[in-house]
Amino acid sequence: MKRILVIGGNGQLGHCLQKLAPKYHVQFDFNFTGSDVVDITNKVQIEQMFQDYQPDYVINASAYTAVDLAEKEEDKAFAINAEGVGQLAESCKDHHAILIHVSTDYVFDGETNLNYSEDDFTNPIGVYGASKRKGEELALEHNPETVILRTSWLYSEFNKNFVKTMLHLFDVKDELGIVADQYGQPTNANNLAEAIMTIIESEKKTYGVYHFSNYPETTWFDFASKIKEFSGSGVLLKPISTEEFPTPAKRPKRSTMCLDKIEKDYHVELKHWENSLRDCVEILKITNA
Ligand SMILES: NC(=O)c1ccc[n+]([C@@H]2O[C@H](COP(=O)([O-])OP(=O)(O)OC[C@H]3O[C@@H](n4cnc5c(N)ncnc54)[C@H](OP(=O)(O)O)[C@@H]3O)[C@@H](O)[C@H]2O)c1
Repeated sequence: MKRILVIGGNGQLGHCLQKLAPKYHVQFDFNFTGSDVVDITNKVQIEQMFQDYQPDYVINASAYTAVDLAEKEEDKAFAINAEGVGQLAESCKDHHAILIHVSTDYVFDGETNLNYSEDDFTNPIGVYGASKRKGEELALEHNPETVILRTSWLYSEFNKNFVKTMLHLFDVKDELGIVADQYGQPTNANNLAEAIMTIIESEKKTYGVYHFSNYPETTWFDFASKIKEFSGSGVLLKPISTEEFPTPAKRPKRSTMCLDKIEKDYHVELKHWENSLRDCVEILKITNA
């Protein structure tokens, strides 16, 4: 049986992979580790885990994801998102494991009206994006058998994310201003977990950078409006501009990604973001999470 090691197993994506794992119990053994067991910045812990578990695949679901705080914690963001990823990739190479590493649309500056393809020029405008771009480079440099999945606007029923924040705010506010001039592709992290498993299951592997998200593009305002509709909330939503909602880290204005490559190479199923959002809101309504 092939072994899959998940680094960052307690994060949002980690939880979605945990939820999916039982479906694959015949083909794969999974080992989910939190930062308390394997800290990606700790080479000794990584090496020990490789020796003990001998994974065939490593999914890196760990990351420093605090986009705004990263502006003040550059060293920490780079240690986790860049150097740690490089070390992990090195161990993958040494132990002949395939690495599936997750990255972000924030490697782009967002100054375009076109959908970014995998080969397009990256130019992050914040520390988080810069640290993730460095992680991509180091992963591919240290282990050519790496699949990098850039994703965007990730949410799920687990952990902290935009959908859960909105649902909470809908309960406590009568009116909310939501940014309406930033464009991106919301992604249900459960769909990302499914895409990762499709890649792992695929007999013919091609490596390098891939884009995966739900489609098509939308704005934060339209995203929030659908959350409102699906939840049945009576909150009043007002479109506002980026200037009216200043944040420590700048966000790309339009970081929408072309999804053709992953569909063509891996036959990954692409889903409309509204359908995937509806699924998530339904789960959250039932579980009250
Ligand atoms: N969230 C988004 O909107 C978004 C958008 C685009 C791309 N992405 C990317 O998608 C991936 C998954 O994101 P997510 O939303 O699932 O993130 P998340 O919920 O913030 O989870 C990140 C996980 O990383 C772990 N971690 C942090 N530092 C670590 C370390 N030094 N060693 C080992 N683990 C560490 C954390 O574990 P502990 O809590 O145990 O410390 C946490 O469980 C990341 O690569 C992220 O960059 C996310």
